[in-house]
Amino acid sequence: MSDAIVTVDNCTKTYSRGAERVEVLKGVSLQILRGEFVALIGPSGSGKTTLLNLIAGLDQPTTGRVIVAERDISRMDESQLARWRTTAIGFVFQFYHLIPVLTAYENVELPLLLLNMTAKRRREQVLTVLHLVGLQHRLTHRPGQLSGGEQQRVGIARALVTDPALVVADEPTGDLDGRKKEEILDLLENLQRGLNKTILMVTHDHVAAARAHRLTRISDGLLLEERADTKEEALALAFPDAKIRGND
Ligand SMILES: Nc1ncnc2c1ncn2[C@@H]1O[C@H](COP(=O)(O)OP(=O)(O)OP(=O)(O)O)[C@@H](O)[C@H]1O
Ligand SMILES: [Mg+2]
Repeated sequence: MSDAIVTVDNCTKTYSRGAERVEVLKGVSLQILRGEFVALIGPSGSGKTTLLNLIAGLDQPTTGRVIVAERDISRMDESQLARWRTTAIGFVFQFYHLIPVLTAYENVELPLLLLNMTAKRRREQVLTVLHLVGLQHRLTHRPGQLSGGEQQRVGIARALVTDPALVVADEPTGDLDGRKKEEILDLLENLQRGLNKTILMVTHDHVAAARAHRLTRISDGLLLEERADTKEEALALAFPDAKIRGND
């Protein structure tokens, strides 16, 4: 078994809109090792979400290959991909994407309904992850009755409930400030440290990026190699205006 959980091999992605063609990814290669916490940074419109979607099997590359946990997902058809996504990947969104009429418990339970699982086992797993994110006392609250930070914790619980090895998060703290942002980052860090999950997080924020082990930067559809020996140097290059504080 290879140490890489994600291998993106020379991927391009071109969107067509009428006669217009937009080449969003122009030949991107990336490896992520099992248990790594990687931050993907880059300006708005540079292709971060596009790349994340390829890795999460939400979209397919125009050319190139995407291998996740030994499976070539760029060769799967839509129904294979849908099945694969349910167990292999947890996706965390900036704006949570919770279903407003469902309770926290029901939102988290949703992915498990696609699996062949007893009601008892389902309940155990839902309660385990809601406990993990510290929301055991909010089971019957609907998203509108939860704070932003709590909604994101429900989003993370939903991403974890099928126990995927890889969690991808698209600006998971983009809508949160201060203490709430730190809580979500603590949670992601604990998933990596305590449960050995691999985490790929898109962020615009140097505070969030500083929590990752490694930074990878995308600009104009290409991954830039950071000519930096340490993460602190990479952070300083990526966020020249920010006062960077090391991770202890
Ligand atoms: N379905 C689509 N059809 C056409 N163009 C698209 C589509 N999805 C994305 N694009 C274009 O691709 C480019 C990259 O988009 P993407 O969402 O990956 O950027 P991003 O780096 O995530 O930006 P942001 O930081 O603003 O979220 C943008 O110019 C966008 O307009
Ligand atoms: Mg985006």
